[in-house]
Amino acid sequence: MRMFDFDDEAAELAEMCFSWIRGRVDNPPPFVAPPTPTELAMHLGRTITPHGLGSTEAMHLFARHIATSAIVLDSPRHGALVPGAPTIAATLFDACVGASALVAEAWLEASGAIAAENQALRWLSDLAGLPPDAGGCFVSGGTAGNLSALCTARDAHAMERRTVAVGADAHASIAKALRVLGLHALIVPSDERGRLTGAALSDALLAADDDGRSVDVFAVVATAGATNAGSIDDLAGVAEISHERDLWFHVDAAYGGAALCAPSARDRFTGIEAVDSLIIDPHKWLFAPLDCCGLLYREPARALPVHQQSASYLDAMRVEGEWDPADYALHLTRRARGLPFWFSLATYGTDAYAEAVEAVLATTRTAARHIDAAPHVELILEPELGVLLFRRPGWSEGDYLAWSRALFSDGTAFVLPTRWHGETVGRFVFLHPKTTIELFDEVLAAMA
Ligand SMILES: Cc1ncc(COP(=O)(O)O)c(C=O)c1O
Repeated sequence: MRMFDFDDEAAELAEMCFSWIRGRVDNPPPFVAPPTPTELAMHLGRTITPHGLGSTEAMHLFARHIATSAIVLDSPRHGALVPGAPTIAATLFDACVGASALVAEAWLEASGAIAAENQALRWLSDLAGLPPDAGGCFVSGGTAGNLSALCTARDAHAMERRTVAVGADAHASIAKALRVLGLHALIVPSDERGRLTGAALSDALLAADDDGRSVDVFAVVATAGATNAGSIDDLAGVAEISHERDLWFHVDAAYGGAALCAPSARDRFTGIEAVDSLIIDPHKWLFAPLDCCGLLYREPARALPVHQQSASYLDAMRVEGEWDPADYALHLTRRARGLPFWFSLATYGTDAYAEAVEAVLATTRTAARHIDAAPHVELILEPELGVLLFRRPGWSEGDYLAWSRALFSDGTAFVLPTRWHGETVGRFVFLHPKTTIELFDEVLAAMA
């Protein structure tokens, strides 16, 4: 069975993989527009065959047509959606995790990996100011984290109640989680910056008191770093109302939670220490590769009966008092996806993280001043994190799309317009520490 023998072909393949990784790690390929399905079918040809193509040919197809037909997340020229910027250590070590065959669902199977992941989770938990026995696990992303946390809230706290109060600018994954869980949303209007405030939550609940709907509310979701504008909800105000009304307090800090480690932004998160559950995606702004979301509970013991799966072949594996990450989210088998994040934290230290996030915040603030100084554009909101919204007065949606396409096709930057209060506007997300102010100036100049 040559598939399992480390023969000469396998040795050659190892060299090919190492050399490809080495070439790629510090050299993201340029952006290309996605090829059509017909073009890709032509480039790839028929790849799944009874006798195999051989590793050289398969690797060639990957390097030539698969890896390059992409808008890679880690380019410093990526300023759309939510980019990524995995560190060199995290990226290289991810390949080691892939090769390690660790099944990090239960302590028995991968205690070392789980202990290391838990240290990385502890750092996040401490940054948020959670108590020492807070904990959780890494899941695949913010969507999976929000769903798992709200499932816990429903089963551990809702009793007969079925409604969750949510800010109007919450991420789409919250609406999806509520749909999946058979729950309803009480949508609370945002303030002018797109934030959920304690006052608006209180008003919405008082209004709902009148028709008896508020008694059905059992949880509230706040966002620390809304995706569209990077705003942070009034966490302290929302925490206070949650406490008064006995609501489960969940914070979606998938994007913004990274800035907990940045002294210049930390004050904005006051109130986060009161959460019952929290998510932060290291694969966004904490420089980890996909896919990695830290899910934390104030009292993990409340999540355990909700998520633990029981089966005759599984139960014998569990040991009382040992930490099984499978028990804290909607998953069983799981890759040790927190390990590349752990390895990078262990390698560089947390100060390097604070420095990198601060650098991004500083570039964003400088970029806001460059908008102020440019006669042809207007800043829409003072940035709280790394997202900038700006307008070119007089432009239509078509003008913004043409701007975005021109920057993309000449390789300058990947930017996409968004909507703000119904108006199409420019948006740029600073996330990669190597994204320069000079690049942003080019993006602005292209609007002139
Ligand atoms: C605030 C917020 N929450 C949740 C998500 C969903 O995360 P994921 O794409 O990792 O599922 C995102 C993604 O951008 C986000 O920005």
